[in-house]
Amino acid sequence: MGYIEKNIKDIREDFPILSRPGFIYLDSAATSQKPFVVLEKMDWVYKNLNANVHRGIYKIAEDITEEYERSRKEISGFINASESEIVFTRNTTESINLAAYMLLQKLKRGDRIVTTLLEHHSNFLPWKKIAKIAGLNLELVKVTSEALIDEEDFEKKIENAKVVAFTHVSNVAGTIVDVKRLARKAKERGAFVLIDGAQATPHMKVDVSNLAVDFYVFSGHKMLGPTGIGVLYGKKDLLEELEPPFTGGEMVKEVHKDGQSWNDVPWKFEPGTPNYVGSIGLAEAVRYIKKIGIDQIETYEKKLSEYLLENVGNIKGLRYAGPKNNRAALLAFEIKGVHPHDVAAYLDMKGIAVRSGWHCAQPLQEELGFSNGTTRASLYFYNTFSEIDKLRTALEELVNIV
Ligand SMILES: Cc1ncc(COP(=O)(O)O)c(C=O)c1O
Repeated sequence: MGYIEKNIKDIREDFPILSRPGFIYLDSAATSQKPFVVLEKMDWVYKNLNANVHRGIYKIAEDITEEYERSRKEISGFINASESEIVFTRNTTESINLAAYMLLQKLKRGDRIVTTLLEHHSNFLPWKKIAKIAGLNLELVKVTSEALIDEEDFEKKIENAKVVAFTHVSNVAGTIVDVKRLARKAKERGAFVLIDGAQATPHMKVDVSNLAVDFYVFSGHKMLGPTGIGVLYGKKDLLEELEPPFTGGEMVKEVHKDGQSWNDVPWKFEPGTPNYVGSIGLAEAVRYIKKIGIDQIETYEKKLSEYLLENVGNIKGLRYAGPKNNRAALLAFEIKGVHPHDVAAYLDMKGIAVRSGWHCAQPLQEELGFSNGTTRASLYFYNTFSEIDKLRTALEELVNIV
């Protein structure tokens, strides 16, 4: 028995919301719950250390700035990057938009951007937008019926591509993409490579120094941190070379009527007052994850994922998206004759919180033949096998009613 299985009761007690009677939270792919340590840290900062960062020279202004920059160090260490490579944003979506606008300066009319059909809208629409602005061609790599990236098509499409962007883990199909191998292929063709790590960073070891990527992005709120804080990891040389797409206060060294000099990286990409309390909260979340152990999380969730598939994936009349193995601890499915929202509403009556609809990945779901979308149960390391049993029982009841 691993660390999490042995300590699951104590771990669950670290999360205030999980003590709600009869409440089963299976929507962590949308957002994770927060442990006391994160909530208390942020509360403490607001009560004891609140001042704007990188501005004042009084005591708490300097202390909060130090704490803010310490949070960058903690987060950079978590993915094995250097502090200057961590740009704080609001979320994954903003990180991808920012990267897209940064790369715009490297692209010219007719250049090709490649993403895939596996993507969340966040890793599709920003590219579509800049393609329209600059007259670029956007191409989508096909997926197989099991929602794996079609590698033959990938190889074809990355040839002469200027940007290749794809997800590490699919939020609908649970597909775990071999980003190391595929990013290397794209890099070898000379493309800028961006990986959407929103569903990976909370659940598995990510080491950007070991990946041939220019950008890697994720959200704090999906990994026990607060909302409104995200990360754009960018390779230092590239960040130094690129112009900031957005400007304003604090991202400059000097401003004159007829000129200015940008701040150093990463600050030149962080105009305005940053979400410093969010960053500090996220660093606390990272410390908590490190205390549990990201390897322990990965191992435990692998068991949860297998149990979920074995026990829910085979319910009569249920069809799920994605591969049969090597998948994340989530299951998006349809039940014959029941609308996904009705499935979610039925589960809600049983105290089980799941998401239903398109999960911001409509092209993927349409491609896989889920014409009304799906219902999705998504797990984190605070979930249990018995919660999966309860999900199965509730779904079986529903299937027997219809
Ligand atoms: C794979 C993936 N990419 C991007 C996002 C967008 O994240 P956010 O809403 O935090 O910007 C999500 C959120 O569900 C996601 O699952």
